Amino acid sequence: MSVPRPAAVIVLAAGEGTRMKSAKPKVLHELCGRALVDHMLAAARGLAPERLIVVIGHAREQMREHLAATGADAHPVVQEEQNGTGHAVRTVLEAVGTINGTILVTYGDTPLLRTETLSGLLATHGAEGNAVTVLTAEVPDPTGYGRIVRDASGAVLEIVEHKDATPEQRAINEMNSGVYAFDGLLLADAVKRVSSANAQGEEYLTDVLSILREDGHRVGAHVAADHVEVEGVNDQVQLAFARRVLNDRVLRDHMRAGVTIVDPATTWVDVGVTIEPDAVVHPGSQLHGRTAVGARAQVGPATTLTDTVVGAGAVVRNAVCEGAEIGPDASVGPFAYLRPGTVLGRKAKAGAYVEMKNARVGAGSKVPHLTYVGDATIGEGTNIGAASVFVNYDGVDKHHTTIGDHVRVGSDNMLVAPVAIGDGAYTAAGSVITNDVPPGAMAVARARQRNIEGWVSRRRGGTASAEAASRATRAQDEAAGRPLDQDGQGRDMAGPAGERQQGNE
Ligand code: UD1
Ligand code: CA
Repeated sequence: MSVPRPAAVIVLAAGEGTRMKSAKPKVLHELCGRALVDHMLAAARGLAPERLIVVIGHAREQMREHLAATGADAHPVVQEEQNGTGHAVRTVLEAVGTINGTILVTYGDTPLLRTETLSGLLATHGAEGNAVTVLTAEVPDPTGYGRIVRDASGAVLEIVEHKDATPEQRAINEMNSGVYAFDGLLLADAVKRVSSANAQGEEYLTDVLSILREDGHRVGAHVAADHVEVEGVNDQVQLAFARRVLNDRVLRDHMRAGVTIVDPATTWVDVGVTIEPDAVVHPGSQLHGRTAVGARAQVGPATTLTDTVVGAGAVVRNAVCEGAEIGPDASVGPFAYLRPGTVLGRKAKAGAYVEMKNARVGAGSKVPHLTYVGDATIGEGTNIGAASVFVNYDGVDKHHTTIGDHVRVGSDNMLVAPVAIGDGAYTAAGSVITNDVPPGAMAVARARQRNIEGWVSRRRGGTASAEAASRATRAQDEAAGRPLDQDGQGRDMAGPAGERQQGNE
């Protein structure tokens, strides 16, 4: 459907939203990766309006900051006191001047409203040549909403607020969504003539309809196909409901585009996420922000990705990843935590109980088990032994570790940054590496082992350990044909002799 660009979209968002019972302004509450008001602005942008105006009042500084950060194209207009929806629109037109052309008025708290529905409203408005066209919906329970009063021929007469309605009018199920297309010049004149003689003592925008009709102009309605789309969010229950509906919509779009979502009921995907066909999202996963998942990748179960890129064919299980880049065919988890600045190359691995931050891991390199990699560059084809720690923090500053290609870092290494390990080098298990290791060298940085023989029988006599040791010694002596002395000890293993038998290199 092609409709002319509206001259302006005015989003009303000055109200407090007291029923949210929250310190945060209502329209800044988040669902599917965007604040309520940003969902409305995104739908409005789909119409390419010449101007995008947001009416703010309550928490205006917070609102201003938010709009500056997320929607610089949206121009805020302050409504000092919230004297009603009509007053809000009048305030805008007084601030920016009369707008010639079609003006769409909508609210900041209807996140489910789609561009297509707004286009439908504009199309009806244009086709019927109306002065105003209101978006309406048939709802099961219209309590609280303004009712659409029509005459016997079905023409719209007026909108009556719930609080001002007669019992007969309250029986009407067609509600006012609060979204309208107006002729800008007629609106500018009519909105000045709205009175506040009603149950709430407010200037109702809804009165503009009867004013224009009485002036002899055409007043019409466009009925939304799905009433859920026009229902606003007023409390936390409605916020959760809207989140569920929007999430289902997002998941359906992905599934129709070839993505496998194993369990839509436990999968949450923000509106800004992209997923390529044949990717599989397993139960209990959440994809947030600017996350992008490549073709054939497997995400989940129980994985939370925020602003993370997952390459084609990568597998990410039971992981939490933020600001990470996971290369094609790479493997993450189970139980991995990738923090901002992590870049895994093709076929690289961040395995079980591995945490990474600001770390580049080259193609085919593996960090398979129980390891922290912070502030590091790892080359290609390298293996980091289990339970190693990149010691990046000296208590004041962070330092970098550089590891070359095809390196073998032994298990349980402490790599004390700044430090570098050259290509093809090895380090021994249990090493504390504080100095650079040249290419091809073996670094051994651990205390030599010494066995103090007989220590347990002397210092822990009578314990189960001492008894087990003595049984083992006796068995060894019997097998070797050594005579036993009177306390059952075959040998005296105390003293320096024991200490001399230590290393084995
Ligand atoms: C309004 C409509 C009602 C409709 C309902 C749909 C009027 C008189 N009534 O009622 O017919 O069924 O919406 O949800 O228009 N706002 C301002 N400034 C104000 C007053 C309101 O910016 O001075 C904003 C609010 O922040 C909110 C929106 O306008 O986003 C609607 O205001 P609200 O007070 O909730 O109107 P309702 O009583 O729900
Ligand atoms: Ca409302």
